[in-house]
Amino acid sequence: MMVSQQIDLAPPPSASALPREAIVSFEGVEKAFNSANGSVTAVRDLNLSIFRGEILTVVGPSGCGKSTILNMTAGLFAPTAGTVRYGGEKVQGANRKTGYMTQKDHLLPWRTVAENIAVPLEIRGWDRKKRADRIAELTQLVGLSGFEKSYPSQLSGGMRKRTALARLLAYDPETLLLDEPFAALDPQLRAKMQSELVRLCRTMKKTVIFVTHDLDEAVALGDRCAVFTPRPGTIREIVDVPLPGDRNILRLRNNEVFTKLAARLWDIIVPEEEGEIR
Ligand SMILES: Nc1ncnc2c1ncn2[C@@H]1O[C@H](COP(=O)(O)OP(=O)(O)OP(=O)(O)O)[C@@H](O)[C@H]1O
Ligand SMILES: [Mg+2]
Repeated sequence: MMVSQQIDLAPPPSASALPREAIVSFEGVEKAFNSANGSVTAVRDLNLSIFRGEILTVVGPSGCGKSTILNMTAGLFAPTAGTVRYGGEKVQGANRKTGYMTQKDHLLPWRTVAENIAVPLEIRGWDRKKRADRIAELTQLVGLSGFEKSYPSQLSGGMRKRTALARLLAYDPETLLLDEPFAALDPQLRAKMQSELVRLCRTMKKTVIFVTHDLDEAVALGDRCAVFTPRPGTIREIVDVPLPGDRNILRLRNNEVFTKLAARLWDIIVPEEEGEIR
């Protein structure tokens, strides 16, 4: 008789037993926007800690406030109520400990790929040789070698995204805020970039908040996944991902923990979206 194996979806005891320091915290956060069409509450009752060195993925229906929480972490705007803290301090004004890759790439159209990536290195005063070496490393990393002299208008959507990611990595921020960074990539390149990102973040001990609509991606990359409700967004559930930090993302497809968790995220999210469509 076949006995189906029980998969333990609880976090490994060693991981949950570690003392964890909150690097970003949302305490009773609400954000409302006022416009000519009235007031929209994007997020409400948001209580969430992101721990130093973790990758937190964020999923939820369109318009539930995912970009809004990144904007507040980056200090681009303040909450209407409650507090957003970074390293224990209230975020007020631009948060320079974070590097933010927004849904738009914000490349400088008059600069080439290499010159866009160079911006943070120029700000830091690196000399030409040191800049060139770092740019070569980063263009190689994001698969843009050979396109250093191209202008953003000459690139595909995915190539623009990769240029923006390379520029973000050149800033070398403590915490990366990534808003659907791989949405425009083909599946192979996406998998490669996911692996590289995780490898880099683990090696360099970065903290990451990663917004995505792709539930497989949310499980593949996350140590935890925060699932949001529809707007006004708040946490519906935080799902622990009991896969090792150095997991091989390219080999997860047949991993039972991965497939079960991705299916579980789907179950958490889909009834809500069906409710909206009806
Ligand atoms: N600057 C702004 N001014 C007015 N309303 C805004 C602003 N930014 C966001 N909103 C509103 O807040 C809500 C949440 O927006 P947000 O961009 O955070 O959603 P999201 O979850 O990132 O959606 P998507 O998955 O489509 O990117 C939306 O209703 C949006 O219209
Ligand atoms: Mg968004």
